[in-house]
Amino acid sequence: MEEKNGLWKHYEQNFRVGAVLNGFTVRDPEITGLICREFNSVTCENELKPEATMVRERSEGNNIAVSLEAAAPILKFCEDNGIALRGHTLVWHSQTPRWFFTEDMTPDGAFASRETIDCRLESYIKNMFEALSSGYPELKLYAYDVANECVSDDPARTAADGMREPGFGEGKSPWVAIYGGDGFIERAFELARKYAPEGCSLFYNDYNEYWDHKREFIYGLCRRLYEKGLLDGIGMQSHISAEPDGFTGVAAYTAALEKFASIGCEVQITELDISCERGKYDAEAQAAKYRAVFSAALETNRNGGRVSAVCIWGSNDSNTWIGSDNAPLLFDSDNKPKAAYFALMQAE
Ligand code: G3I
Repeated sequence: MEEKNGLWKHYEQNFRVGAVLNGFTVRDPEITGLICREFNSVTCENELKPEATMVRERSEGNNIAVSLEAAAPILKFCEDNGIALRGHTLVWHSQTPRWFFTEDMTPDGAFASRETIDCRLESYIKNMFEALSSGYPELKLYAYDVANECVSDDPARTAADGMREPGFGEGKSPWVAIYGGDGFIERAFELARKYAPEGCSLFYNDYNEYWDHKREFIYGLCRRLYEKGLLDGIGMQSHISAEPDGFTGVAAYTAALEKFASIGCEVQITELDISCERGKYDAEAQAAKYRAVFSAALETNRNGGRVSAVCIWGSNDSNTWIGSDNAPLLFDSDNKPKAAYFALMQAE
């Protein structure tokens, strides 16, 4: 039996606890009931990404038209139920249509100039925030991933300018190709600062931050943006495994969390899922890892840090991007709480 007052209540004095909805799960009343009971933050899994919101047909000149049609049922659900929303995401090399980057706005044209993309980026960010506030005036938009996954996994690149390889597809970045480096990140934060509503914290979000070279690079990048007053927080995606040690182990994870918190900015765990790796780890091992992550967040705050949300990337084990056989979430396929859930209801 789950508690009457769920996870969000247990952690209310410390940080929000979030989950994900998508166009499919938002139509399932058992899942939306579970979200209302357990969580006080929601992220749209794909529905607010550029691919889902940029509209080629209505875009004119360099004004990028937007549509919230895909996200609408989720936004309405959040607004109606007083659940805060984490926006995800504005600038990303992935799930962004290629036409956005080309001179003639066709899918296979040549890349446009930096000046052109600057104008399109400004219109996109402005139009997105306007559409959200005019369409959903009561929605609490408390955080937004302004830039996502810009930093390379390659130590040779983080030793230089840190950015992904320029290009399109296969993990390459059209942003880097067009701006000739990392200039698009600061530009995106300037624009988000200009158009985001009050109370919406602006985040840089990435994965594998427990990898030392990537952690150090992201630390430097975000510290600079924070000191310029452009960034409010760092998002740690946290797609990790139930292994207690090693690459995504508790020690490496905690080191990254503490390092980022030491900047003084907010930190959010934005996309947590803990894979059992097809039965390699059992429910108890998974519970221990979930508890260790939440405990690390609580401890960071006890030490003066500002962890403001811990968000789970999915609703139940039937609805997860890494496959149900990895059983990475807090609720099973029948929405029954797992050992990890009960461990979190005890963590202090
Ligand atoms: O939109 C098409 C739809 O038209 C088609 O019918 C369907 C058939 O498979 O595919 C749909 O697209 C899929 C999309 O999810 C929407 O369901 C894509 O194939 C699929 O690749 C895509 O996966 C998403 C993935 O991002 C793409 O990068 C996952 O759902 C989503 O959980 C995942 O989320 C990312 C975060 O945004 C960033 N951090 C990593 C995280 C996990 O990869």
